[in-house]
Amino acid sequence: MIQVYENIDICSRNSFKVHQHATKIIEFDCNSDLQQIFAEHVTDRWMVMGGANNILFTRDIEFPIIVPRNEQIEVISEGSEGIYVRVGAGLEWDELVAWSVERGLWGLENLSLIPGKVGAAPVQNIGAYGAEAKDCIINVEMYFPEQGGFVTLAAEHCGFGYRESVFKHTLKGRVIITAVTFCLSKIAQPKLGYGDVEREVEARGGVSLVNIREAICSIRRTKLPDTAVTGNAGSFFKNPIVEASVAQNLLEHYPNMPHYPTADPEKVKLAAGWLIDQCGLKGYSEGNVGVHDRQALVLINTTGNASGSEVITFAKKVQKIVADKFGIAIEAEVNIL
Ligand code: EPU
Repeated sequence: MIQVYENIDICSRNSFKVHQHATKIIEFDCNSDLQQIFAEHVTDRWMVMGGANNILFTRDIEFPIIVPRNEQIEVISEGSEGIYVRVGAGLEWDELVAWSVERGLWGLENLSLIPGKVGAAPVQNIGAYGAEAKDCIINVEMYFPEQGGFVTLAAEHCGFGYRESVFKHTLKGRVIITAVTFCLSKIAQPKLGYGDVEREVEARGGVSLVNIREAICSIRRTKLPDTAVTGNAGSFFKNPIVEASVAQNLLEHYPNMPHYPTADPEKVKLAAGWLIDQCGLKGYSEGNVGVHDRQALVLINTTGNASGSEVITFAKKVQKIVADKFGIAIEAEVNIL
C-alpha cells in the first residue's frame, strides 16, 4: 500500500527536530509499490528517508521523499551454527537487535540502541563498541529506478568501510534499499574489547547476549542524548583518519590522545570527540545549538528551535576551532540536505 502526505512539517520525522516542510512524503509497504510511485509521483528528483536520524535538513524539500515501511523479519535459512534473516528496510534497527538477542543469535548485540531503520544501516555501515553492521550483512536488496528493476548487491560489492559504503558514493541518490539479509550466529562470539563494555558486562553477572545488550544500552543512555527529549543526530562528525606521522606528532604534545589503528598501517584514526573536548567545547552552546555535555561528538538542538542552517554555522565554528588547535580537519558524518 502507498500512503501520500502533502505539505507537512517534518519536525517530528527528523531526529534533529528541525522545522522544515516537505512537499510530498510517500510511504510504501511492498516492492511492487515502487514502480507505481515512480510512474505516478516522481518526475525528476527524489530522495529516500528512513528515520532521518542522520540527516540535517537545512531547507524545505520540494521533491518527493520516499519512505519504506516494510518491517518484516523472515528467516530464510537455518543451520546448526546460525541463520540467514532477511529484514524489511522499514524496521526500527533496535527492534531487530532485540529480536536477535531474544532468540540467542549473536552478531548485532553491540549495535543495540542505535537509532534508525534497518534500510539505513548499510548506508553508513553503522558501528559502535567494536562492531559494524557490515560484519553481519550478507546482501542488500534495492530498487534501481534508472533500470526500473530490483538489484541484490552482495556485501563484498557494497564498498563497506568506516562509516562508508557505495550507497554514499556511486549509488547515492540512485537506489531505494528495500531489504537487508544478515547472517546471525548461534555460537557465542562476544566482543568486549571496547571501552567500558567488559566492566559493564561483568557488573551484570558476566558474558551473555542479554548482559551485553543491557551493558551497551546503559553506556549509550549515559553518554548520548535521548532523541525523544533533545534533537540530535548522534555523532555529528566522523572520527578523522590521518597519516601515522601526523598522529605521532600530536602524541608528542598530547601523550594521552586516544588513537586507533586502521586496516591501513600508514593511517591512524583519532577521536573527534576528544579533539572537540580538548578545545573546551563540551557543553558549550550558542543560540539554539550546542555540544552535548557528555559526548562532544554530538551536536544538539538545545532549545528545540534550532534551524538546520544554525546547526551548520555552529558546526563550522567547531571545525575551525579544532583545525586551529590541532591542524586536523573533522568532517561531518551527518548527511546535510
Ligand atoms: N572522548 C573524550 N571526550 C568526549 C568524547 C570522547 O575525551 O567528549 C574520548 C573518549 O574518552 C575515548 C575516545 O574519545 O577515549 C572515543 O570516545 P567514544 O568511545 O565515546 O567513541 P567515539 O569515537 O567518540 C564512536 C562512534 C559512536 C559510537 C562510539 C562507541 C563515530 C563517529 N562515532 O564515537 O557512534 O557510539 O564510537 O563505539 O564513529 C554515532 O555514530 O552516532 C555514534 C554515537
